[in-house]
Amino acid sequence: MSKLSQRHLLGIKNITREDIELIFETADNFKQVINRPIKKVPSLRDVTIANVFFENSTRTRLSFELAQKRLSADVINFSASNSSVKKGETLLDTVNNILAMKVDMIVMRHASAGAPHYLAKHIKANIINAGDGTHEHPTQALLDAFSIREKLGNLEGKKIAIIGDILHSRVALSNIFALKKLGAQVMVCGPPTLLPKFITSLGVIVELDVKKALEWCEVANVLRIQLERQQIKYFPSLREYSIYYGINKKMLAGLKKEIVLMHPGPINRGVELSSDAADSTHSVILDQVENGVAIRMAVLYLLAGATN
Ligand code: CP
Repeated sequence: MSKLSQRHLLGIKNITREDIELIFETADNFKQVINRPIKKVPSLRDVTIANVFFENSTRTRLSFELAQKRLSADVINFSASNSSVKKGETLLDTVNNILAMKVDMIVMRHASAGAPHYLAKHIKANIINAGDGTHEHPTQALLDAFSIREKLGNLEGKKIAIIGDILHSRVALSNIFALKKLGAQVMVCGPPTLLPKFITSLGVIVELDVKKALEWCEVANVLRIQLERQQIKYFPSLREYSIYYGINKKMLAGLKKEIVLMHPGPINRGVELSSDAADSTHSVILDQVENGVAIRMAVLYLLAGATN
C-alpha cells in the first residue's frame, strides 16, 4: 500500500502533492463503496477513533463519524460544551484521559490555531485537524479540491476564486495551499479589511471587485462572514457587505460562461450568497458534502496504514 509522508494530518502546508493525489485516488475508491447498497468495509476494524470537538460543527463532525463507521472503526464523540473542560480540565489532560481508554486516533476541532500541532508533540496517537481557529481546515480543502477535480477533470492551470472573509477563514488558507500544490491559479477577493496583510506572499492574485473575480474564474468558492471571530467591525453592516460582495443568480446568469459555485457551509443565506444562487444549477455545495465522507474515509484509512 502507498503511504502518506506524514503520520498526522495537521494541515495542507506540510503535505506533498503526491500525498494529495494518493488521498484523491483512495477517495475515488471509497466514493464507489459508499454508493453501493452495502456501504461498509472492514478496513478499520479494531481501530478506535475519538472525535474531539471544542467548537461547533455539523458537516465535519458528522462526516468524520460516518466515514469512521463506513470503515468499521469504533467511534467515541467528545463535545467540550458538556464535558469536564467546563470544570477547568486542560486540553492535554482531556486528550490523555481519552487515550487512556485505548483510543488510536484523534480527530480534533479547536478554536485555537496550533492546538493539534501542540498535541502532536505530546501524544502518540495519529491526529487529524478538523479545523484549528483561523489557521487550517485540511479535510475541507481536500474535499473542495476533490470536488473541483470531479467537475473539471484536473486542477492544473484552472482559475479558482476564493471570495469573502479570507482573514478569519481556515478554509481559505488550506484551500490556497492545496490548490497551489495542484497547479491551479488562485485569486482571493473580498473587502480590503478582510484580506490578511501576508496574502500576496502565498502567490495568489488579489481582487477587490467581486464582479471581476467572477468574470475571471472557472470556480468561485464563496466563504461565510465569520462574525463570531470578529472582535472589531470590518465593514459597516451585513446589508452593505451583501450589496458589494453578495453573489446572486442574476450575476451568475450575466457571465458569458458557466462557473462552478462552491461554499464550505454553513451558508449565511442572503449575505454572501442569495438562495437562488446557492440552490442554482451552478452550485455543487451538496456534492462537496457528499465528497467529504469519501475524502475523510481516505484520510483515516491512509493514516491508520501509516501507523500499522
Ligand atoms: N465546513 C465546515 O467545516 O462545516 P462545519 O462547521 O459544519 O463542520
